[in-house]
Formats: sequence, C-alpha cells, structure tokens
Amino acid sequence: MIGIVLAGGSGTRLAPLTLLANKHALPLGNVPMIHHSIDLLAKIGVNRVIVVCGDSDAAKFMRYLKDGSAFGVSVSYTYQDRPGGIAEALGLCRAFAAGDQAFVVLADNGVEYVDTLAHAVRELGHADRWRDAAIFTTPVSEPQHYGVIARDADGHVTAIVEKPSVPPSNLAVTGFYLYPPDVFDVVPTLVPSARGELEITDVNNWYLRQGRLRMYELEGYWWDAGESLAQYQTMHRHVLEHGANHWKRPISAPPEAS
Ligand code: TTP
Repeated sequence: MIGIVLAGGSGTRLAPLTLLANKHALPLGNVPMIHHSIDLLAKIGVNRVIVVCGDSDAAKFMRYLKDGSAFGVSVSYTYQDRPGGIAEALGLCRAFAAGDQAFVVLADNGVEYVDTLAHAVRELGHADRWRDAAIFTTPVSEPQHYGVIARDADGHVTAIVEKPSVPPSNLAVTGFYLYPPDVFDVVPTLVPSARGELEITDVNNWYLRQGRLRMYELEGYWWDAGESLAQYQTMHRHVLEHGANHWKRPISAPPEAS
C-alpha cells in the first residue's frame, strides 16, 4: 500500500496566513502541519509515500521532509499544476501507485488516535480484500461544511452528500481514504463539479454504488485545520497541548468495522 499526502489546493479559507505560505507549511503544534500526515502514515505502517505539492512552496516540503527517512518512510514528490480538486490530485499518483492500494491523507486533516486507521490498513491490506474502499467518519456539529452520510429508514447508507445546505446526518467524511488499485480507473471517468473540481465524494459514491465502500468511525478528536481561521487556531492550541497521532489501545485490539 502506498501513502498519498495531498498538499496542494488554494487554502483561501486560511487567508491571510496563506497569502505568504502554503497551508500545510503553517505550524500546527510545534511542527508544520504536513509533519502530522507523514507521521500518521508511518505509524499505521504505510511507509512508501508520495506528497502532491501544488504551489511555489513545494521546495519547502522537500527541505523539511527530505527523503522521509527521519520519519521511517520513503517520500517522493509530484506536482499539481492547478487546484483541480482532491480527486484530480489523487489521479496524478497513478504511475507511482503501480497497481498498489492507496491510503490518501488530506494534509490539513489529522487525528488524536491512529487506531482506526491502522485497523483498516491491516483489515483491507489482505490480498483477498483488495477490492474494497474505505472512508472514515466522525460526528460533527456543523456537517454542512463536509461530505455527509445519508441513510435510508433501515439505516443503510444511501449516499455521501457534499456540503449539503440541509445535512441528512451529523456524520462527516474525514480526509482519510483507502482505495483499491482501480481508483485510478475511476478518477478519469469523473466530470468536474459546479466549482470546477474533480470531487473525492464522487469517487466515494462510485464505490458505494458498487457495494464496495466500507465505513469506519474515528475515535478521539479529528481536525480539518483548513476549514476556517478559527478552527485552525483552535487546533493549533489543542495539538500544542495534547499532541496527535496517539495509540488509544494496544495494536492487537483493533476497533470493529461498521
Ligand atoms: P480543501 O480544503 O477542500 O481546499 P483548499 O486547500 O484549496 O482550501 P480552500 O477551499 O480554503 O481554498 O482541500 C483539502 C485538502 O486537499 C487540502 O489539504 C489540500 C488538498 N488539495 C489538493 O491537494 N489539491 C486540490 O486541488 C485541492 C482542492 C485540495
């Protein structure tokens, strides 16, 4: 399995901080935001990583992460010419993945506990389970900012709805995704959304329609530090105080998949 860290995008919601620096180079706790993504992948056992950069700050990531050996992983880099969406950035990694599974991390997302993510990697990393994709959810107070889970009367997931004005639930899809190798055949079939981006929610709904999407619920706090300046500041203070990417329980006792 390869790790894909998406560190492109515009970061407009964190302006004016992002007028001078890429969002993922901003401090979160005592380290740059992207540090947590690489550390997370190392902890869950994904040690071949590609970082998708997207602006003139790309060299900063190379200077900071180097070849990844300080994290115990191997890091390569690629470049997204314009912010054409999360799914577009993922599609750029096809040659690097070379038929392998992909664990995708949005570099402005992070977690308190890595247990659920590590469990999914172990569970779906088996060769006979390579056909399934996975998303990771968490309850939020303002679901309208995220991809949100919709269920029917029997509790079956019917769709993931992107930034709904009337959210069908409070269960948000977080910025971690595990995909089988054919995700690189799905991305080219996508059409740009109204905002002109290839949407990762369309990829996830494709796997849902195929009956190939697993859902896991994260434990502990989760952050999307790019959501607003207020959210970024809150998470910066929180990570300073509490850290990130902890183990909640011994690795031998993973949580159950839903
Ligand atoms: P977003 O926060 O959805 O988009 P953004 O980073 O452009 O920020 P804003 O909406 O405030 O302008 O992106 C989530 C993550 O995905 C972020 O960490 C960067 C990454 N990303 C890419 O790598 N390429 C892209 O084209 C986009 C849109 C996002």
